[in-house]
Parts: sequence; structure tokens; C-alpha cells
Amino acid sequence: MPAVSPDIKQLLTDYDQLHLIAAAESLTEDQVKDLEDQIRAIDFDQITAARESSDSSAGDDAVPRADNAVAPATVVRPPVSDEERLQRQKDIATGNRLLADGAVAVITVAGGQGTRLGFDRPKGMFPIGPVSNMSLFQIFAEQIAARRERHGGSLPWLVMTSDATHQETQDYFSDNSYFGLDPQTVHFFKQGSMPAVDAESGQILMNGSSSICRSPDGHGGMVTALDSSGLLQQLADAGVKHFFYHQVDNPTVIICDPALIGVHDRIQSDLTTNVVRKVDPMERMGVLVDIDGETQIIEYSELTEQQAHRQDDAGNWVFWAGNTAIHVFSLTFLQSLVADGCQLELHVAHKKVPHVRADGEPVDPSEPNAHKFERFIFDALPLAQKTLIVEGDRDREFNPVKNATGSDSPETSQAAISRIGREWLQQSGINVSEDQVVEVSPATALDADELKQKLEAGSVTVAQLTK
Ligand code: UD1
Repeated sequence: MPAVSPDIKQLLTDYDQLHLIAAAESLTEDQVKDLEDQIRAIDFDQITAARESSDSSAGDDAVPRADNAVAPATVVRPPVSDEERLQRQKDIATGNRLLADGAVAVITVAGGQGTRLGFDRPKGMFPIGPVSNMSLFQIFAEQIAARRERHGGSLPWLVMTSDATHQETQDYFSDNSYFGLDPQTVHFFKQGSMPAVDAESGQILMNGSSSICRSPDGHGGMVTALDSSGLLQQLADAGVKHFFYHQVDNPTVIICDPALIGVHDRIQSDLTTNVVRKVDPMERMGVLVDIDGETQIIEYSELTEQQAHRQDDAGNWVFWAGNTAIHVFSLTFLQSLVADGCQLELHVAHKKVPHVRADGEPVDPSEPNAHKFERFIFDALPLAQKTLIVEGDRDREFNPVKNATGSDSPETSQAAISRIGREWLQQSGINVSEDQVVEVSPATALDADELKQKLEAGSVTVAQLTK
């Protein structure tokens, strides 16, 4: 009969979690060892503190952050004057040079479970191309290949996965020959996980006699995962200075937009965020704000309806600057986060978590029963010395796939890809009707100018782009 080691027993006694080893006597030696490893990975103090602070911030006397927030004082807007246009050209030239020098890497965060979309595979595998049916991952791969071709730099690609998505994502890339990319230039790194606890009792939930209910630790787990995978050091050694970060759900993100990288470099920003104007105060986007002179993001779930509608004296929405989750991180900032222990705040979410009771009975709750814990990468903003907010072109850059139907769904995202394609064709002097489905894949062209050249050279035909 395998014995649980005394230090684990003591730990669980101290934190009133002995139920985790209640069934240990029926386990094999390997299972006990595995369970012990899962237990050792848990920071019980941190979880307790997060639950306590979430309980106290729900109290009546808490001052919600949103009430102290104002619209961000400084935002780099799309250029209007000649001077601004000239500056934009200079920023693009800087971005192009950094890309050519191999000073930029791409991070795609793809560790989420994508429950809202109702797709039971890693979200990056979701077919989104309206003509090609290609997946989100393939669109990003083609963009990266096209940027490498255009700029000549190495442009490493880092894909963050989680226990929930790691193996399937890796298999998908290898089954598809990495979409033509050199496998040596694509790096998968896995984020950590956090246990789920019963919301009432604080007991950690299990989904089997030797397995703890765990879920990804949020995209804020990226910093630890980048460091512990060795990739941060590896890329620093290779001369990478900036990391272009984006989420797996947005097929029209302009990966490594030279203008964004250029302005980030010019301002010597630690952390740059691309924002777009929210279409509705209740839109499910985090918002960039200033709180006591510091740039922060308030997540949509933290805003009440009344707060979300707050206007300034001129009648403008205070919370207009929606977070596209497109960021540029400087290497030195990521290194400073690592040096400080990467301890971003733990957010507590009240969720339905199916589990198995200590007596072996499965439980499939119909109401939220558990607390899950996540770190958000944007909680790094207040830790940065220098931040920058840049307003992007919403129609062009932000068309995510989040929900199965309605807003931010495959339907709206595909319509946007098609609209962008039609606009580019029109800029080449080709008229297409509004209901024509069009897709310009990144391998064909990264922008309207490139498409025009290819059409004129005859290397691309309209028939290839439409259906
Ligand atoms: C997110 C942002 C929100 C922003 C919006 C823009 C958060 C908490 N909020 O909302 O401020 O306005 O996107 O589209 O992120 N992910 C991981 N690991 C995890 C959890 C998530 O890699 O542990 C990845 C997902 O794969 C996805 C991204 O993070 O790429 C977004 O996660 P999701 O939870 O869907 O955030 P949203 O609610 O859409």
C-alpha cells in the first residue's frame, strides 16, 4: 500500500485539505507520486489570500477602482496632420528596421479553453477563412511567413499553450508541416495551472481519486512560463528586444505592425497597448484608464452598467478605450517582471466546475459552485515605468471570434475578412459587389498595396480570392 509522504500530510493538515489524499490507499505508487506533485505545485497561502481579498472587495465599503478612473490622458491617435503622417512614416521605418534586424518576436496566447465559442478543440484550430476555410493558426502562420519574407528578419514565433491545449496544438502544427514555417522557429511553451476550490468550504476539488481539478492560470501566467521554458533567455541571447503579443481569437490582427513597433521603440515604452473605440459601453472589452496618474486596464466584468455609461463633462464616454489585447512588451520589462517574481494579482472567478466528491460521487453543478484563479497579463501595466496607448483602426484590426453566434462570432469575423478583401480590391480599381465573399490570405498580400502589385503583375487573379 503506497504511503503519502509525511510532509504532504502535514501540509494538508495545516490547510484543512486532507480530503485530497483520502483515497490514497487505493492508488498505485505512481498515482500517489503524481498526486503529491500536483499538491506540491499548489500555493495554498496565495489561494487563501486571493479568496479573502475577493470576499472583502465585495463588501459595501469598498471603493471600486472604476469610480477613481478617468479616460487615459495620452493616446497616440491615427495621424491627421502632415506632421503626424510624417512621424508615422518614421515609426514604420523604425519598425521595419527592427523586424529586419531580428529584434522582434511574436507571442500568441492560445491557452484558453474557448468555452464561449463551443468549439471543443484549441481555438486556433477553428476554421475562419471565408473562402479558404483556413484556421486561425494558419492565418497567423501565413502572416509570420509573409513578414519574414518582406523584412528578412528571423521573427521567432512563440505559442503559449496550456494543459488543455498543448498536445493537440503541437500535433496540429506537425500534421500540417508547420504551415511551411521552419519548425525550429516556432516555439510552444505551456502556461501553468491553478486548482479550483469549492466556493463555500474552500476545499480543493478533485476530478478523480488522484487528480485535482485544475485550469489554466490565465494569460498572466505567460511571464513565468516564458522564463521557466528558457525561451526568454534564448531569445534575449538571439537579440530580440521587443515581443509583439496577441490573442488567438483575432484573425485580422496585424502581426508585428511596423507602425506599432516603431512608436513603442521611439517612446521607449515598456508595455504598449493597442486600443479601439468601444461600440457600446457594455461591450465585453477591458478598458484603458488612468487611475491616480497610472495607466491601468479595468476588465469589463468589473464595471457595473452605470459605471460603464459614465460620461465626462463634454459628454464623452470615460471608458471608451477598448483593450484589443494587442500589446508590445520590451524585453527589459519582461526581465524586470521575472526578477520581481512575476507575481501578478490572482483574480477569482465564480464558475461551474464538475468534480468528483470524496465518496466517489460525480457532481455536475447547474450553478457556479467553485472559485477558479487567473492572472491577467495587463495587470503588469502599473508595474511598468513607461506605458503607451495607441489607437488602432478597429474595422481593420479587431474582429475577434469569441461567441458561437451574435457579436464577435465566426459570422461577424468572416464578414470582416471579406469586407477588408473587398476594400483592397476596390483600392486596386476592381469593383466587387457588397455581397461578394472575398478573402485575401496573408500569403497573397499583407496589405492593399501588395495586392495591387500582384494583381497588376498577374500573379494573383480575382477568381482566386472569391467564391
Ligand atoms: C479579453 C480581455 C479583454 C479584452 C478582450 C479583447 C482578459 C481577461 N480580457 O477578454 O480585456 O478587451 O480580450 O478581445 O483577457 N488565454 C490563455 N490562457 C488562459 C486564459 C486565456 O492563453 O489561461 C488566452 C485565450 O486563449 C485567448 C485570450 O487569452 O487568446 C483571451 O481570453 P478570454 O478569456 O477569452 O478573454 P476575453 O473575455 O475575450
